[in-house]
Amino acid sequence: MPKEKILIIDDDQLMREFLEEALNRLGYKIVTTSNGKEAINLLKNQSFDLILTDLKMEPIDGIEVLKKSQQICPETPVIIMTAYATIETAISTLKSGAVDYLIKPFTPETLEIAIKRALEKTRIKAENKFLRAELRSYMGPSDMIGNSKAMKELKKNLLKIATSNSTVLIRGETGVGKELVARAIHYNSPRKDKPFIKVNCAALSSSILESELFGHEKGAFTGAHERKLGRFELANGGSLLLDEISEIHIDLQPKLLRALQEKEIERVGGTETIPINVRIIATTNRNLEEAIEKGTFREDLFFRLNVITMHVPPLRERKEDIPELTEYFVKKFSNENGKHIEGISQEAMEALLEYDWPGNVRELQNIIERAVVLAENKKILELNDLGFLKSMGIKPFHRSSFTRGITLHEAEKKLILQTLEYCNGNKTKTAEMLGISVRTLRNKLHEYGFAQPKKKK
Ligand SMILES: Nc1ncnc2c1ncn2[C@@H]1O[C@H](COP(=O)(O)OP(=O)(O)OP(=O)(O)O)[C@@H](O)[C@H]1O
Ligand SMILES: [Mg+2]
Repeated sequence: MPKEKILIIDDDQLMREFLEEALNRLGYKIVTTSNGKEAINLLKNQSFDLILTDLKMEPIDGIEVLKKSQQICPETPVIIMTAYATIETAISTLKSGAVDYLIKPFTPETLEIAIKRALEKTRIKAENKFLRAELRSYMGPSDMIGNSKAMKELKKNLLKIATSNSTVLIRGETGVGKELVARAIHYNSPRKDKPFIKVNCAALSSSILESELFGHEKGAFTGAHERKLGRFELANGGSLLLDEISEIHIDLQPKLLRALQEKEIERVGGTETIPINVRIIATTNRNLEEAIEKGTFREDLFFRLNVITMHVPPLRERKEDIPELTEYFVKKFSNENGKHIEGISQEAMEALLEYDWPGNVRELQNIIERAVVLAENKKILELNDLGFLKSMGIKPFHRSSFTRGITLHEAEKKLILQTLEYCNGNKTKTAEMLGISVRTLRNKLHEYGFAQPKKKK
């Protein structure tokens, strides 16, 4: 029996009752509301697997609910119901991002099919995203591109370090490839068939991070409805990557230190001591010595982590790697996007070698991906395809030439990237120009693989 939770929004009571009954019978969990405003509140406070909304409602209509849902829960599919079906409304609802629309009146069978199809579509999308991320993330040292002296040395050390069980601290600027190195260590270690679990210490608040790391018992705090295993336990037998370790709150550091020293943990709200067998790999792009001086990082924790240190040098210190990395990214994104780009012009390469790369390999990767995605009918990328290197000042904003036959998704991606380029990467301006929220823009960019590194003060 399906157990998905569906939110129904319709100002017509009879319709709500019909839907609730039909869907209850199919085993779905149902929450109903008669207006858009309450629906938005519900979306903020609960999670739903699907939203079924009427189109014409006052004062907030179905499209508005759809738009809000895309900001609050972009993964949740929305089906719009309408009694006033015209081709135009159908097209505009689909364009706004609804997965489907239903023309009233409809039978319970039609409803069932539409809902199943929408849930299936979303499930496949989520699965694809996961698999793609997994595929992208699995990397051995041979996938670490670069044959500069520094990289050769790093790869050689990596293989030695991988076989040991020691804690490793990987240091280096943002985007240099620290996570890549961490993965390569795990997948070349005797623990490679056990889990590799990552926790981003910067992304979570201190209390959430605590329960992510150590887990919690049922009832440990409001909202702890079930026992939850922490990442230490999930990583048992394998490796735990503590990403951006400098960001871990000082109050949480003693507990982490204890876990590393004693090799045992206690879940939040629990009394049982659980032994753990986990290899710790930590990364940082901040200067931990400075953090110690400032009092935001404990010295004893630093010593405990700093058993083996690996330093991944910035790209500007190993510019010999740029041609090889560029070739690799051109091929990779060309394949992924069904393009036939073979390389870049000499002039463009000179510009890449000239540049300082504050965002390191990630920045290079993003620039090449964007250039490949935007390139039309060419085999060689030219200097002016590498948007970022164009001289300052006025940028030509070509009327987008959308070739017939490209999908709506491709056209959207292209338009977003072109506008972003036109706005010099300014997301607020870009979102404004496109008439979407910054959050939607971020989500889209994330979806295209342009996860921007966090800005740090
Ligand atoms: N040597 C390399 N070969 C191929 N791809 C690389 C290399 N170095 C980095 N990358 C790619 O660049 C991107 C950034 O790398 P990674 O996430 O490992 O950086 P990081 O040092 O962890 O950055 P941050 O400090 O911002 O977290 C990733 O997509 C990664 O696959
Ligand atoms: Mg990282």
